[in-house]
Amino acid sequence: MRLKNGEIVTIKTTQVNDAQALLDFFNASLYESDSLTTAPGELNLTLEMEERLVQGWIDNKNCNNLICLHEGEIIGICGLHGKDNRKRLGHITNLGITVSKSYWGLGVGYLLIQEQINYAKRVGLKKLDLEVRTDNLGAVHLYKKCGFEIEGTHKMAALIDGEYKDNYFMGLIIDL
Ligand SMILES: CC(C)(COP(=O)(O)OP(=O)(O)OC[C@H]1O[C@@H](n2cnc3c(N)ncnc32)[C@H](O)[C@@H]1OP(=O)(O)O)[C@@H](O)C(=O)NCCC(=O)NCCS
Repeated sequence: MRLKNGEIVTIKTTQVNDAQALLDFFNASLYESDSLTTAPGELNLTLEMEERLVQGWIDNKNCNNLICLHEGEIIGICGLHGKDNRKRLGHITNLGITVSKSYWGLGVGYLLIQEQINYAKRVGLKKLDLEVRTDNLGAVHLYKKCGFEIEGTHKMAALIDGEYKDNYFMGLIIDL
């Protein structure tokens, strides 16, 4: 796969032996923006806990965690995490994404989300949903470009540097 700058990247499903690199990447990404729910320093996962999480994702068809690699390094992650496998809720999964700041705007996010939409279609998921800060203009643009629609506003969803911020609820209905 090729980015907008011509660089080649690969996307693969996270395996248990990626757990340490995944932890390191996610931890570093917390310092690169204030758009994620977890604040810098709040990630208290041990390697063993992360390995169990990754195995859990592999075992659950409503979950799928992808990593994007450039020259062997993780530069982006995108996860589908089904909240609930009960009959009435098992058609929905939640999408989360973060890309290394030095790669923003090159199409990594778009490639990752397209892969997740393909995965959702393959396994019969019907809806992807997410929350995104209303002031995260790049992310809102990316989600709309991938077909997500704004479904509502979650007021006072986050407290950032003493200021309450709203989120959009966004959703993508997978073609039946
Ligand atoms: C949001 C994020 C995942 C996007 O990843 P990315 O690899 O930069 O995404 P892409 O390059 O595929 O697409 C970004 C798009 O937003 C556009 N964009 C960037 N800043 C923008 C802005 N301020 N206003 C409007 N559009 C903007 C880019 O031009 C690009 O659109 P285009 O391809 O039509 O030109 C990345 O910025 C990130 O990790 N941010 C921090 C974590 C985060 O916010 N995660 C999402 C939480 S809901």
